[in-house]
Amino acid sequence: MALTNGHHDECDDSWISPQDLERLKDISRYEPRDTAVDGQGILTLPPGTLPTRLVGEGAANAVFEFSVPQGHPSQGLFKRTVLRVAKVKRPGEHASFDYIAQHKYFLRDIRPRLGGYTVHQELVKAHHAKQLVPEMNEMLKRIDGQRRKKFRGSFVGNTDWALLLEDVRPQESDDYVLIEFKPKWLLQSPNAPPNAIRCRQCASVFRTFVTKPDLSSPLPSQTLCPLTLGRSDGGHYDFSSPFRIAPALAAQATSSAQLSYFEHALDRVANHPVIRKLRTVQAELDKHGPLRAELSPLLPQAMTLRDCTCFAQIPLSPGRKGPANVALCDFDWKNPERKLEHWRSRESQLINGGFYTAGRILCNGKYYTPPTLCLVEHEAGKGSNSGEVIHAVREASGEAGDILPKKPDSGTMYTHQTDIEILLQRLERNEQGREGSVTDPNSLKDPTR
Ligand SMILES: Nc1ncnc2c1ncn2[C@@H]1O[C@H](COP(=O)(O)OP(=O)(O)OP(=O)(O)O)[C@@H](O)[C@H]1O
Ligand SMILES: [Mg+2]
Ligand SMILES: [Zn+2]
Repeated sequence: MALTNGHHDECDDSWISPQDLERLKDISRYEPRDTAVDGQGILTLPPGTLPTRLVGEGAANAVFEFSVPQGHPSQGLFKRTVLRVAKVKRPGEHASFDYIAQHKYFLRDIRPRLGGYTVHQELVKAHHAKQLVPEMNEMLKRIDGQRRKKFRGSFVGNTDWALLLEDVRPQESDDYVLIEFKPKWLLQSPNAPPNAIRCRQCASVFRTFVTKPDLSSPLPSQTLCPLTLGRSDGGHYDFSSPFRIAPALAAQATSSAQLSYFEHALDRVANHPVIRKLRTVQAELDKHGPLRAELSPLLPQAMTLRDCTCFAQIPLSPGRKGPANVALCDFDWKNPERKLEHWRSRESQLINGGFYTAGRILCNGKYYTPPTLCLVEHEAGKGSNSGEVIHAVREASGEAGDILPKKPDSGTMYTHQTDIEILLQRLERNEQGREGSVTDPNSLKDPTR
């Protein structure tokens, strides 16, 4: 979708600082367009622009449907678009998100690498739409109770700018359903130990499973192993079930024919050229991994592309063409000065905590098989690394640190303090086959679960 600049009445740009004007001129180098109308070729949200619905939110951003005043000449330019704005802790705070820099990053560093598989994005001026952010915050307050727990009480930051995105939701909602997933690390981390039996993403999910056990989250084996994406080799293994990218879709199927049809459609998303493209780019951008990475400008790009989102529209019946509109979105720049230490310590925790390597979990005196399902594990074979043990122990207040390595006769014991009752419950349920599995989509529909 191409949004061309159009006529608008609000041409007063005196609020833009000379530095920002320079930055906008700089941006236009990456996005040549007709600048005849206002000198910058940037759309303006007119006064009276209001949010109409929260479409979704993440940790750092919120996405809204919006409307411009009826009959405004710019109305047609905003068809099938949504606004993406940055969040803050309290209403009234100014967003620290630098919209101009973020858009330049997208145009210069991200979009050219992804061969056209990006959701269309524009920078828009929100300065004249005075009620936009206050109304977004009123809306967030009104629906606070329906928001995901961890997002409640966060708001949209004051801003003169916003990002305008192509709305990726199906227009004919009866015919298509939207899925979204984060492909994450499509290759093993260059820092993973040589005897790893898990990829970086599976190790990371396994860490959360052990250290922050939670009865309502899916089992690691039900979440995506990114190494299984883009590797259609004709074989069909448990670990490569395409339902791992969209578990909820399995539950939505009303017949076994529809279930197998969904499986086929999801398989085409999992093996879409966009995934192969992303994997190639991830490989080019970071060959050393966070532990050995330099503070190079390529590292934030690598990390951005390990955290972007893939959208796809899945037709509900075989009569329709699909999957449609497979594209990537969410390309926030990560500040390496602030983040490198965090990236390094996360990688060290995964290595030193045994999450890449452990073949067994010891909990309450009994050994369990970790409920993970990784391509690396599959290739290593059943029972690998049985001497590498995660020892889960009860949280003891006052004891510092969560990793206390011990050396048994052979192999290594990695001790972690955690909520042992919850972890035990999950391990037992899994052992008894009561957790269900995404590789058997019928289990997701079992009403007794
Ligand atoms: N172009 C779009 N069209 C429709 N909905 C969208 C679009 N972009 C994002 N969304 C919805 O808004 C949600 C939040 O957006 P986004 O991923 O940009 O936020 P975020 O804070 O960066 O998320 P995260 O914390 O996962 O990185 C998405 O999960 C998606 O459901
Ligand atoms: Mg994000
Ligand atoms: Zn994996």
